[in-house]
Amino acid sequence: MHLYLDTAIVEEVREIAAWGVLSGCTTNPSLILASGRKFEDVISEIIELVKGPVSAEVTAMDTAGMISQGKELRKISNHVVVKLPTTPQGLAACRALTDEGHPVNMTLCFSMNQALLMARAGATYISPFLGRVDDISWDGMQLIKDIRMMLDTHDLKSQIIAASIRHPMHVHQAALAGAHIGTMPVKTFQMLIKHPLTDAGLEKFNSDWEKAKKNQ
Ligand code: E4P
Repeated sequence: MHLYLDTAIVEEVREIAAWGVLSGCTTNPSLILASGRKFEDVISEIIELVKGPVSAEVTAMDTAGMISQGKELRKISNHVVVKLPTTPQGLAACRALTDEGHPVNMTLCFSMNQALLMARAGATYISPFLGRVDDISWDGMQLIKDIRMMLDTHDLKSQIIAASIRHPMHVHQAALAGAHIGTMPVKTFQMLIKHPLTDAGLEKFNSDWEKAKKNQ
C-alpha cells in the first residue's frame, strides 16, 4: 500500500517527505481552509516536495464547471489529480476528464455501488472515507474489502485510496484489506513509526554502547 499525507500544511509534507516514504498527497477544501493559504500556492509547494500525485478538489457542482476547474488545476502540474465529488455531475466530469487523459480521484465514497459507478466512469482513484463510515457505526474496513473484491472480480483498474484514516490500526487493516493507497494525517504517520519496545531497545543499546566504548 502506498502512503499519502492528507494535509494542506506544507511543513507537514516536508517532514514526512524527508522520511522517504511518501508517494503522494490529498487535500480537500476543509484542509485548504485550515492552512489559511491560497489553494494554488499550497498545491504547487506540496508537489515540489512530493513529486507524485497530489489531489486538488474542484468546488463547482455542475459538470461543465468541474471540467473547466479540473483543467485549470491540471495546468499547475502534471502531478495534479482532479478530485471530484460523488454526484451524477461528478461522474460525468470524471468520464470527460479521464477520456482526455486527466487523472481523477472520486471523493466522498461511502458505498460499494458508488465505487462501481466511479470505476465505470473511468476513475483513476476511488476514495472510500473509512473513518467517517466508522463514525456512523458501520464498518469502514468492510467497505474497503468489498470495493477491492468488486474491482478484482470485474477487472476494473481504479485504485482504492483508503481515506479518512484516523489511527494506526486503520493503516494496518487497510493494507491487509487491499487498499492500493492509504491517506492519513501527519499525526497518524508519527504514530506509525512509534513502538515502546523500539524506544526501550534503543535506550538499552545506547547505554550499553556508552559502557562498551572504553573497550574499543
Ligand atoms: C481524503 O481525500 C480526505 O481529504 C480525508 O481523508 C478526509 O478525512 P476526514 O474524514 O478525517 O476529514
